Amino acid sequence: MELVDAPHSKCGTLGYVGSSPTAPTLMNTYSRFNVSFKKGKGCWLWDQKGNKYLDAVSGIATCSLGHSDRVLRKKLTSQLKKIQHVSNLYKIEEQELLSQWLTNHSCAESVFFCNSGAEANESAIKLLRKYGNQTNSKKESIILAAESGFHGRTFAALSATGQPKYHEGFQPLLTGFKFFEYNNIESVSNLFEECNSNNKNVSGVIIEPIQGEGGVIKGDKAFFNKLRKLCSEHNSLLIFDEVQSGVGRTGKLWGYQNLEIEPDGFTLAKGLGGGHPIGALLVNKKANIFNPGDHASTFGGNPFACTAALTVLEEIQKRKLLSNVCLRGKQLEKGLSLLSKKFPNIIEGKRGFGLLQGLVIKKEYIDAKTITLKAFEMGLLIVPAGGNVIRLVPPLIISRNEIKDLVKKLNLIFEAI
Ligand SMILES: Cc1ncc(COP(=O)(O)O)c(C=O)c1O
Repeated sequence: MELVDAPHSKCGTLGYVGSSPTAPTLMNTYSRFNVSFKKGKGCWLWDQKGNKYLDAVSGIATCSLGHSDRVLRKKLTSQLKKIQHVSNLYKIEEQELLSQWLTNHSCAESVFFCNSGAEANESAIKLLRKYGNQTNSKKESIILAAESGFHGRTFAALSATGQPKYHEGFQPLLTGFKFFEYNNIESVSNLFEECNSNNKNVSGVIIEPIQGEGGVIKGDKAFFNKLRKLCSEHNSLLIFDEVQSGVGRTGKLWGYQNLEIEPDGFTLAKGLGGGHPIGALLVNKKANIFNPGDHASTFGGNPFACTAALTVLEEIQKRKLLSNVCLRGKQLEKGLSLLSKKFPNIIEGKRGFGLLQGLVIKKEYIDAKTITLKAFEMGLLIVPAGGNVIRLVPPLIISRNEIKDLVKKLNLIFEAI
């Protein structure tokens, strides 16, 4: 497979990796690999020709239990036999069970269910607007977000995404967003001051505890502690986007637990359904301000999706997957450090922890997308992130031997470059 010039590279790193022409009946939103996977099991995928791939993408941090998990299959088959979908006009038992599980295991007291990460963030942004208007209706309400952050492709989520390349061609975006430098507290406090002196009110901050798409950038504990204080002092809500970092990916159930602070709310999607679409906004008492009619979703939290999520969460506990993520994460860190030392002309360094890790590739040497293509040809699936990073987000069930295999494959790829 040849690498073609990304036709719209301004549009970011995702969707511009492969070179296969898109079927004319599909909108031209992705540049795809010329492959169609026909079978998946655990951390492995097989294509139409029977070629086997080690999957360190897992649907981009989504297939938490890997492919075709026996328990998930069984639970979902039995759910389909009972009931698949009913409207939120009625009580949904599976939704209540899932919200109980989530609130019992987090700082939140209440949950709104939707279908994706962008939609979960859309809900959070609406909630921040309502909170701002409710607490300070005379002032314009402003939401702060981080540069190099990523919150999704719908309009509000895109407006909160601090990466101009995603905005190009889609202006005017929603107004009322300001951006600070990630991990730089002065940059945030300056914005609070600027808003105050311009008679504006910061209703809240939306931020990832570890930036994924922006380049696998770890949140700094001291920064997040100060950010928590700043938000509390200004009566602003702190909302974490845990769409990628949540549900065990960092070795803790929620990414915020690595930072030793609690947000007022957080969003989930990706890994929550283990490959089935479900998103959620979880809030504490202070942020629990939606009333009937404020927000809704036709599919959000239907019995099928909630059973998928509840199964994923229960299996994470039963199989002690958080400790697996920590152990395998450490093993992967070691492997990536060795690779960084062995190939200093190609690799600038390693980033991340748990099963959200990356290697920063020297731009002047090679494009991360070229490495992604080479990896694909050699039977390894990886995904690029911002800042010329190759991102590794395998299923949470990955074994010791599979991590060994992953590092071995990366070594072969770098040797072949
Ligand atoms: C942190 C974060 N937020 C939001 C999103 C958007 O999620 P979705 O693609 O499910 O809308 C993503 C997707 O990559 C993400 O990584």
